[in-house]
Amino acid sequence: MANQWSAVLFDLDGVLCFTDEYHYLAWKRVTDELGIPFDRAVNNRLRGLSRMDSLDIILEQAGRAFTRDEKEALAARKNDIYRGCLAAMSPADLSGDVRETLDALRARGYRLAVGSSSKNAPFILERLGLGGFFDAVADGNLVARSKPDPEVFLKAAELLGEQPERSLLVEDAVAGAEAAHRGGMRVACVGDAAAREAGDYNMASVRELLEIL
Ligand code: BG6
Ligand code: MG
Repeated sequence: MANQWSAVLFDLDGVLCFTDEYHYLAWKRVTDELGIPFDRAVNNRLRGLSRMDSLDIILEQAGRAFTRDEKEALAARKNDIYRGCLAAMSPADLSGDVRETLDALRARGYRLAVGSSSKNAPFILERLGLGGFFDAVADGNLVARSKPDPEVFLKAAELLGEQPERSLLVEDAVAGAEAAHRGGMRVACVGDAAAREAGDYNMASVRELLEIL
């Protein structure tokens, strides 16, 4: 049946894979070393935000200002720890739901892309066995503005050569759902954003995309 979409844009962390805990553990190590309070409630506020925007939120608790160089060093330290966690990922970390949904959407002829704030997106996709699977990957390396700015999703649609309004976005972050709406796209949410009913569709699993599309 014909519908209004020809492309599906996937967020990465929290949608195609579950790296939240690795982000948490890496930031926790850095903040423990600094003696700054950090817990899962703060970590939840970082979902969908760039690494530097995340650090700015974390440092709200620090009680002192940090220079640009200090912040760059902290972000680099966090990323080293995080990359150590990612190195243990493998295609076994791709859930059956995600794999089967991607394959079914591909078989139905949709163009498929990633729109992620992460600068580690290419590495994660390789680890999951998805390197080369998507028609386009827009990530934190290509954009200047973090979600909820729509830049990364508009970039993904542009790389596909698709109109934003013909692209359905899949997100787990409220900031990502807001980015979709600012960019003129409709969004199907899972996880935290679905629990907060931030989407045009709020799903228990990505598999429900096969009923929407
Ligand atoms: C997003 C995550 O996908 O990527 C955020 O939801 C993270 O928590 C952001 O801060 C940036 O990730 P990276 O890999 O560039 O540090
Ligand atoms: Mg996400």
